[in-house]
Amino acid sequence: MESGFIEAARAAAAAVDEGRLWQSLMDLAAVGARSDGGVCRHALSDEDIAARALLIGWAEARGLEVSVDEVANLFIRRRGRQPDAAPVLVGSHLDSQPAGGKFDGAYGVLAGLEVLIALDEAGVETQRPIDIVAWTNEEGGRFDRSCTGSSVWAGASELESYLGDIGADGVALGEALAKTLAATPDLARRPRRWPAHAFIEPHIEQGPVLETGNIPVAAVTGIQGVRWMNVEVAGKAGHAGTTPMAERHDALQAALRAIGELNTLMSDPHDRVRFTVGRVNVTPNSPNTIPEKVMFSIDFRHPDEAVLEDRGGRIAEAVKTAAAPCRTLITPTLTMDPTTFPEAMVAIIEANASGLGIGCIRLASGAFHDALYAARVCPTAMIFIPCRNGLSHHPDEWAEPRHCAEGARVLAATLAQLADTS
Ligand code: GLV
Ligand code: MN
Ligand code: MN
Repeated sequence: MESGFIEAARAAAAAVDEGRLWQSLMDLAAVGARSDGGVCRHALSDEDIAARALLIGWAEARGLEVSVDEVANLFIRRRGRQPDAAPVLVGSHLDSQPAGGKFDGAYGVLAGLEVLIALDEAGVETQRPIDIVAWTNEEGGRFDRSCTGSSVWAGASELESYLGDIGADGVALGEALAKTLAATPDLARRPRRWPAHAFIEPHIEQGPVLETGNIPVAAVTGIQGVRWMNVEVAGKAGHAGTTPMAERHDALQAALRAIGELNTLMSDPHDRVRFTVGRVNVTPNSPNTIPEKVMFSIDFRHPDEAVLEDRGGRIAEAVKTAAAPCRTLITPTLTMDPTTFPEAMVAIIEANASGLGIGCIRLASGAFHDALYAARVCPTAMIFIPCRNGLSHHPDEWAEPRHCAEGARVLAATLAQLADTS
C-alpha cells in the first residue's frame, strides 16, 4: 500500500465541513438523550432503531446506497469506478453505554458520513467503493458479548450462537435483532461475509494522552487484550436478625472477599493492568435476608498476552479460595487477544496527517473496538481524536468540534488514498 500523500486527498480533506459534522453529532445525540446530557442507546433497542432511521435518511438524501446484513450491521455505500471491487470500510457503532456519551461510536460513523459527502462535494472519484459501517452491539451494555456485529462479520463467531443471549432487560438478542431488521424491511440485504480492502475506525481516544499533549490526532497502533467473565457466588439465604454470624454462607460477604483477593492478584506497580468489577447483582437483594447469590463481572485488560494468560488463569482459584465456604462458578463472556495493526496502515494515516499539516502521534488503544475483529480479515487501523479530560463511558464525554473536523480531514485523505489503491 502507498503511504504517500495524494492530491485528491487534499481536496477531500478541504471539503470536510466542521459545522455539518458537528450538527450531525448533536442530532444523533438527541436520539436516546439522557437528562444529564449523556446518551442511552442500547444495541437493538427502540433508540438504536431510531438512530439507524436518522442515519439512513441522511444517507439516502445524499444518494448513497444503504444495506444491512443478518446481524443488523448497517452499511452505506459511495460507489467507486469499479463497482465490484472490494470496498474500503469506515465506521464504528451507534449503540452506547447505559450512561454513555455523545461521541463513543457515533463519531466514527458520522465522520465516515461527513467524508462521503466531502468526497462528493470535492468531486473526488475513487476506484473502490467506500462503505460506512455501523456495527451491531459494540458496547455489550445490554447484551454482554460485545462487538457482536463485527465478530460475526469477521467470522470470529457465528450469529446463531448469540440469538439466545438474554439482555439486561430480559429480552433475547434474537428477538431484538428481528425487531430491528423488521424496522427496515426495504433495505437491500448483504451476505454475512465478504472481502473488504481495508477498515478504518475513527474514534475519540477515551483517555488523556492527546489532550494532555495538545495533539489533534493519533494513528492507533493496536488494541490491548481483554478478558471478561461473570462470577457466580452461591451461598445460603437466611434471616438477617437470627442467623448466627458463624453459621452463615453469605454470598455477598464471600464476593467481597473474592474481589479483595482479585485486587491483590491484579496489582501492578507499572499500572498497565486494568481490572474492573462493574456489575454486581445480589439475590434476593433485601436488607434483612442474607444474600443467597451474587453475580459480579470481571473486566481485565493488558497489552501483553502472556500477562492475560497468567493472571487470567489464576482468577478461578483465587475466587474459589476467598469465597469458601460459598461455591463459585466462573463463565467467560469475552476473550479478545491483543491486536497490532499493520505498520503500512498506521503509516498511511501518519502520512496523510503530515500532508495536511495536522499533528499526529502513534498511540495504542486501551479500549476495545470493532477494529479488533476487522483486523482479522482486512488491513485495519484507527484514528483517534482527543476527548475532554480523557473521559468516556460517561454522560460528560466531550470532543471539541475542531478536533472532530481535524480527525475527519485525516480520515478523508486516508480514505481517498486507500480507495484508489489496488
Ligand atoms: C469498549 O467499549 C470498551 O469497553 O473498551
Ligand atoms: Mn466505541
Ligand atoms: Mn464504548
